[in-house]
Amino acid sequence: MALLNTLIGAPPGMPARTLLVRLAAIGAVLAGSAGTFAYVGGWLSPGALTPARVIDRFEEVNGPHPGFRRNHAKGLCVAGRFASNGAGARLSKAGLFADGRETPVEGRVALAGGQPYAADAEATVRSLALRFRLPDGEEWRTGMNNIPVFPVRTPEAFYEQLLAAKPDPATGKPDPERMRAFAAAHPESATAAAVIKARTITAGFADSTYWGLNAFRFVAADGSDRAVRWAVVPEGPAQTVPAARGDRNDLFDAFAATLAQGPRRWHLLVTVAGPGDPVADATRPWPAERESVDVGTLTLTGTAPEAAGNCRDINFDPLVLPDGIAPSDDPLLSARSAAYSRSFTRRSGEEKPPSAVAGAPSRGEVR
Ligand code: HEM
Repeated sequence: MALLNTLIGAPPGMPARTLLVRLAAIGAVLAGSAGTFAYVGGWLSPGALTPARVIDRFEEVNGPHPGFRRNHAKGLCVAGRFASNGAGARLSKAGLFADGRETPVEGRVALAGGQPYAADAEATVRSLALRFRLPDGEEWRTGMNNIPVFPVRTPEAFYEQLLAAKPDPATGKPDPERMRAFAAAHPESATAAAVIKARTITAGFADSTYWGLNAFRFVAADGSDRAVRWAVVPEGPAQTVPAARGDRNDLFDAFAATLAQGPRRWHLLVTVAGPGDPVADATRPWPAERESVDVGTLTLTGTAPEAAGNCRDINFDPLVLPDGIAPSDDPLLSARSAAYSRSFTRRSGEEKPPSAVAGAPSRGEVR
């Protein structure tokens, strides 16, 4: 009995009945934890979509590319800073929105898809992922794409779409029959695809708007919270006429050369949801008249090729959030977090071939 008491942290001499109640409670907690692990691992539901199955599907569709991200595989590191103008402080208590606060930022521009050596193409989705380092070890990590809505609403649809869009080896294009079947089963994706297709594609990474797409919640100092989406919007006009193309790394090389000439700036716009706006459906835009608050300026100052210890080794998990930013009910968020973690774990354990993107000499400092 004394040994048991010590094991469960009960004071010596505790009555046997109380001890049994405590043991039962501990048993319940252990069973609960084991159940959670089994659930997350997918052992309780063999047909369930697990992070491992999602990452297996990327590998099935793209082929093996050890050492690289399973999605957004081709990328270049960037660095800079975020200067808050104070306008975000009424929406979120996160320290980085305090008036005049400057926060160092490291990030990565990339092209969507699991092919690390694919030639740059104008219409390939471009991304910008950022890590803001706040005081006291807090961080905000976010990944954004240059499309105004996401093509799927649920993780299951994402998984199905990956296979439906797999290029047919005979034609190099997705099988139209499979794509039709996917669109018929997911009308929300067909609508989103039309919105994405109608977007203006700008010249490159430097003049792209990047949208966070998923909704989050901003929590203010008074405890009030509201659903938001965010985007970073470039300063100055977009160049809609693409530069001459033909080289495999055109887009990345042009961006590295641009930053080598001087910094580029974007504004972080936070859009607040109105009543009834969809917060758990990234395929649907919010009405254009929603309030958008310019909360500060992101300045990118330099690029560097992926290497040990820089953006290559960061997991831009969208659920790494500071106090003052919280997840919404969007089902993509937890799926993203789990899948990025699985991708990160696999690539971390593999040998790293060099990135296709060498970058260019840059004046900015990138660690
Ligand atoms: C269930 C849906 C999704 C899945 C399964 C998924 C999967 C992935 C995976 C596996 C990676 C590579 C992670 C790594 O190895 O570090 C990745 C990267 C990325 N994803 Fe997603 N994704 C999803 C939805 C989204 C959405 C909604 C966005 C919206 C913006 C997004 C933006 C990005 C970006 C920007 C990156 C590149 C991050 C970097 O440069 O490291 N993804 N995604």
